Amino acid sequence: MRQVTATVISNAEVMPQVHLLWLEAPGMAAAARPGQFVMARCGTGHDPLLRRPLSVHRVDGGQRLALLVGVAGRGTGWLSYRRKGDVVDLLGPLGNGFSIRTAARSLLLVAGGIGVAPLVFLAEEALRSGRAVSLVVGARSASGLYPRSLLPSGASVVEVTEDGSEGLRGMAVDHIDGCVGRAEQVFACGPATMYRSMAGKECLTGEPVQISLETMMGCGLGACYGCATRTRTGMRMVCHDGPVFELDDVIW
Ligand code: FES
Repeated sequence: MRQVTATVISNAEVMPQVHLLWLEAPGMAAAARPGQFVMARCGTGHDPLLRRPLSVHRVDGGQRLALLVGVAGRGTGWLSYRRKGDVVDLLGPLGNGFSIRTAARSLLLVAGGIGVAPLVFLAEEALRSGRAVSLVVGARSASGLYPRSLLPSGASVVEVTEDGSEGLRGMAVDHIDGCVGRAEQVFACGPATMYRSMAGKECLTGEPVQISLETMMGCGLGACYGCATRTRTGMRMVCHDGPVFELDDVIW
């Protein structure tokens, strides 16, 4: 873990109120693994006081790192206005990250909304290691889908929208039954409602499923207990013990 002053290389709004920021962050980009996150300072002073947790979205050549910033308030709003040459104070990479089993050659990735952020990085790493990747991406409507042109080529992609304006109609989880049988490991990132649906799905019973929990964080370092979550082995800190957990371990 390190603290770096990262320089913005580019900023593009890729979905409404969602910005793709590429930053020059050499040591951090080289160290990051899929599923890890950074804590970003969202201002130049102490307001807002707390950093915001953001998944590492992609890395490029060990020098550059991308974040997918969904504007949800003042802090992420400030980040979304950063332009080329601006600097952002980042702490990371933090957390445990996803873990692909050596024997797993075929992976299913399920993304709900902006939960696609860490799964793109995971898909790229898995494809690079010769694995097959199926990616089910869900959003409320077509405009909320992560641009297909930015998804890793080589992944088999299924798009799902709640209103049916693009791809299949419904929730991402409604359309994984056919893919689960072909996958040797399942990964997901999205809202808690998506995980609750997954926990109740018969086709996932007994399957190894890793999920990345999204939650508010204070310190990101295991010190403030602001991100405590209930698991079958007791209270765990999402920032320090996660953010990746086994689906079955979390008490919903
Ligand atoms: Fe402080 Fe996790 S955010 S303990």
